[in-house]
Amino acid sequence: MQSHNSTARSYFCSQELLNRAQNVLAGGVSSEFRKFSTPHPLFYERASGARLWDVDGNEYLDFTLSQGPLILGHSHPQVLKAVTTASQNGQLFAGQHLQELELAETLQRLIPGAELMRFSLSGSECDHAALRLARAATGRDKFVRFEGHYHGWFDNVAYGVTGPSVEALGDRENPTLHPWTQGLPDRIGDEMIVLPWNDLELLEKVVSERHQEIAAIITEPVMCNNGCIPPQPGFLEGIRALCDKYGLVFILDEVITGFRLGLGGAQEFFGVTPDLGIFGKAMASGYPIAVLCGKKTFGADNRPLMQMIADGQVIHAGTMNSCNPCVAAALATIEVLEGENVHPRLFELGQAFMEGLRTAARETGHDDFLVQGLGPMFNVQWTPLSEVRDYRDTLAGDKAKLGRFITLMAERGVRVIGRGLFYLSAAHTSADIQAGIAAARAVLEQMKSESSASISTREAALPQQDETADVLTPGAASLEARREVAI
Ligand SMILES: Cc1ncc(COP(=O)(O)O)c(C=O)c1O
Repeated sequence: MQSHNSTARSYFCSQELLNRAQNVLAGGVSSEFRKFSTPHPLFYERASGARLWDVDGNEYLDFTLSQGPLILGHSHPQVLKAVTTASQNGQLFAGQHLQELELAETLQRLIPGAELMRFSLSGSECDHAALRLARAATGRDKFVRFEGHYHGWFDNVAYGVTGPSVEALGDRENPTLHPWTQGLPDRIGDEMIVLPWNDLELLEKVVSERHQEIAAIITEPVMCNNGCIPPQPGFLEGIRALCDKYGLVFILDEVITGFRLGLGGAQEFFGVTPDLGIFGKAMASGYPIAVLCGKKTFGADNRPLMQMIADGQVIHAGTMNSCNPCVAAALATIEVLEGENVHPRLFELGQAFMEGLRTAARETGHDDFLVQGLGPMFNVQWTPLSEVRDYRDTLAGDKAKLGRFITLMAERGVRVIGRGLFYLSAAHTSADIQAGIAAARAVLEQMKSESSASISTREAALPQQDETADVLTPGAASLEARREVAI
């Protein structure tokens, strides 16, 4: 195994393949977020447990876990076996199968609000279906979403994901909407009311004034896509109460928190049951499956909700939905998570990791290094704030420092998501956590000595590629830069 010392790594083969890929894959990648790797998009060859290897033979201790799904680590044998067996029995029936039923029954048992459900391939699809369903169930068009949250890449949620600066976001009560991409119809911005997160007073005010237009409130339970920010005490409960009071649908987007905070997701962890929940990522160890699950009926007058899909009033469909290997992967993943009681260990390792990073930062003179999160996932950033509570707060962070940290960690063979997010898996050991802390300490020391050198020396030390490319870019004018916020 390569140590996590800084060694001059070569990325020659990846670079060659990337050059080739750029002739056939748009931007050389299959998802926008993969463009922003350091030193450039890399090609990987294999992965096992907590590690993966690129085509140049570089080894990485992996805290990205493929953006979250690999909660058991890479290539878990029980998952691979289940997928193989299921595939040998056929791949897709365009019909029902027993394992699909067993998975649904398992989810119903584990997830508090999962009375009825439908499987899709991705979180984006389920978010889309949830909003359609909420509109149908309430007869209202708009929904409330929060600044900096990510609910997939579809049109109806492509405003409010990012913004170049606090000034550009404008008034808290009536924020300026920034499109995340070109190609959005003008009217799409009218479908949503975007608000800063974690501000219950503001939310109550807006909902009490405008509830007759609003079908749903959608939120990540922990703001994982920007800063790994926990909800303020009472915030999720407050959303629940508002939805009950005004007959709105409460949609909890658990694509990240699902199976990561526990088997019942954030709704079990925080003790707040939404009307609809969306799970994906960690449910199936990297196989494409997501679920929209929720109550048959909702509100004081028991209006139909998931029942509308059951009755065919609201359409949900998909050729590949609940294909055999994906269902088998989900069943096997959940079986291991449940059988081996993985979550307490994830929290323990995560807490030790966060504490170790805080100590390393303190001892290397990085007083503005903030570590925030719950353990199974957490975030690091340089900020003058002692607590980050919403997207606007994240814009106070020093993105250049974060970018340098991510680059130097990768050079030491530790792979971290560009926006400072760490994910832990059942495959990580205490030794891996100590290795991560040691690498971070060395990087923090290096950054300190760089910052005390002259500015020109520091600039000369920067790599050719834009090392801030996978992080938030405050003040960035271009769409390209603003798109880098999530995932
Ligand atoms: C909270 C949240 N919702 C939805 C999505 C979209 O899921 P997918 O990438 O599977 O479409 C993501 C993806 O990262 C997410 O983090």
